[in-house]
Amino acid sequence: PSQPTWGGRFETKPAELMTRINASIGFDKRLWREDIEASKAHAAMLRDQKIIPAEDADAILKGLDQIAEEYARDGVPVRDELEDIHMTVEHRLSELIGPAAGRLHTARSRNDQVATDFKLWTMRACDDVQRAISDLQDALLARAEEHAETVMPGFTHLQVAQPVTLGHHLMAYHAMLDRDFVRLMDAELSMSECPLGAAALAGTGFPIDREATAQALGFTSGPTANSLDSVSDRDFALDFLAAAAFCSLHLSRLAEELIIWASPQFGFVKLSDDYSTGSSIMPQKRNPDAAELVRGHSGRIIGCLTSLMVTMKGLPLAYSKDMQDDKEPVFEAYDLLMLSLEALTGMIATVTFVPERMRAAAEQGFSTATDLADWLVREAGVPFREAHHITGRAVKVAEERGCNLDALPLDVLKDIDQRIDERVFDVLSVDASVRSRTSFGAPRLSVSASRSRGRGRTDGLP
Ligand code: ARG
Repeated sequence: PSQPTWGGRFETKPAELMTRINASIGFDKRLWREDIEASKAHAAMLRDQKIIPAEDADAILKGLDQIAEEYARDGVPVRDELEDIHMTVEHRLSELIGPAAGRLHTARSRNDQVATDFKLWTMRACDDVQRAISDLQDALLARAEEHAETVMPGFTHLQVAQPVTLGHHLMAYHAMLDRDFVRLMDAELSMSECPLGAAALAGTGFPIDREATAQALGFTSGPTANSLDSVSDRDFALDFLAAAAFCSLHLSRLAEELIIWASPQFGFVKLSDDYSTGSSIMPQKRNPDAAELVRGHSGRIIGCLTSLMVTMKGLPLAYSKDMQDDKEPVFEAYDLLMLSLEALTGMIATVTFVPERMRAAAEQGFSTATDLADWLVREAGVPFREAHHITGRAVKVAEERGCNLDALPLDVLKDIDQRIDERVFDVLSVDASVRSRTSFGAPRLSVSASRSRGRGRTDGLP
C-alpha cells in the first residue's frame, strides 16, 4: 500500500526508519493463530448482533480460514510496512475478499486485539510449560525410585553434613517443580478474562456481545470489567514471566549440581554422551555444556521478567507503544525455558550415577556425628549440648587417627565418654544413620511418600 491503513490524515508516507522502528511483524507473527481465532470470534459476534451483514461476516470467516491454511503451509509473510500481525492478516483478507474485509475492524481496535491475542498465546504457553515440568518430574521420580536406597552425603555450605539418599535429593527438585506447576496455574487465572471489546481504550457504542466472544475464545471468567485496564494490563505476561523465572531458577540449581557432581573431584555422576561435549584442544575433556547452558539461560529468563517490568512501570493509562516490547521477552523466556526443561529431562534420564563415590564421600566427612550425639541423648540421657561436645571430641580423635567414626575402637570411645557402649555402632554407619531418621519428610520414606500423596505426577491438580 502507498499509505498505511491509518494514512487518511497524512500527506506522505512515513520515513523508512519510522517503518522499521514501528514494525513488530518480525516477532509478533508468532501470534498468527490467536489473531485469526480472535478475529473469527469477533466477526461471528458482529454477525449475530447484526452489526455487519451476514454475507460479509461469512466471507470474512471463510477468508480467515484460508489465511490460516496459507500461514500453516507457507509461514507468515513479513512486510514491515504492514506493521504487525493484525494488519498483515487484515491486508491479506482484503486481497482475498475485497471491501467486506474492511468491516472486520468494526467495534475493535488493535489495542484490545493485541491484548486478546497475546493472552491466548500466553495461556497456551503455560500449558506447554506445565507439560514439560511434568515430564521432568517423571524423569526425576523414575531415577529417585531407582536410587531410593543409594546413600549419598547431604551438604550444607557444600560441606558434608549428614547422609541422605540420592532418591531424597532428587525428590527435592520434584518438590520445587510442584510449586512451579502451581505458580503457572495461578498465572493462568490472571489470563482468564477477555479484553476483546474494550476497543481502543473506552469501549464502543456498537451493541457488541462481550460475553459471547469471551466464551468462544475460552476465557473462563468472562470479559474484563474496565476498558482502560483491559488494554493497558500486561500482568498476565508478567505472571507468566515470574513463574518462568522461578522455574528456571530451580533448573539452574539442578544444573549447577550436575556440573559439580560431574567434576572428577566429586565424580558422583557421569553425564551421557548425548549431553556432553568435548574440547577442541584438550582431548581428555568431557564438558557438561548442556547443564551450563541451562544455568546460563536462567539468567536470561530472569532478565526477561526484569525487562517487561521496567517497560511497564512508568506507563500512563491506557495503551502506549512501549507495550509492543512486551512480546519478545515472553517469547524468549518461553523458548529458553522449554529448551532447558527438555534438556534437563534428557540429562536426568540418561545420567549415570556413581553410588560408590557417593557412599565414599558420605563416609569420609564424619557425616554420622549428629547420630552419635543423638544416641548419647537417647540412650544415655545426656543433654544435647553436652552430647554435641562429646561427639566433637570423638571427631577430633577420629581425624587424628585418620579413620571414620564407626572405625573407632570401643575403648577409645569409652575414653572419651564412659557412657558410650557397643550399641552405638548401630547408628554410626551411614546406612544406619539414614535408616534411623524416620520423621515425616526425612530421606527414608521420601520417594514412596511423594507417590502416596499423589504428587508423583502433576497433571491436573496437585
Ligand atoms: N503491534 C502493536 C503492539 O504489539 C499492536 C497495537 C497497536 N496499537 C496502536 N495503537 N498503535 O502493541
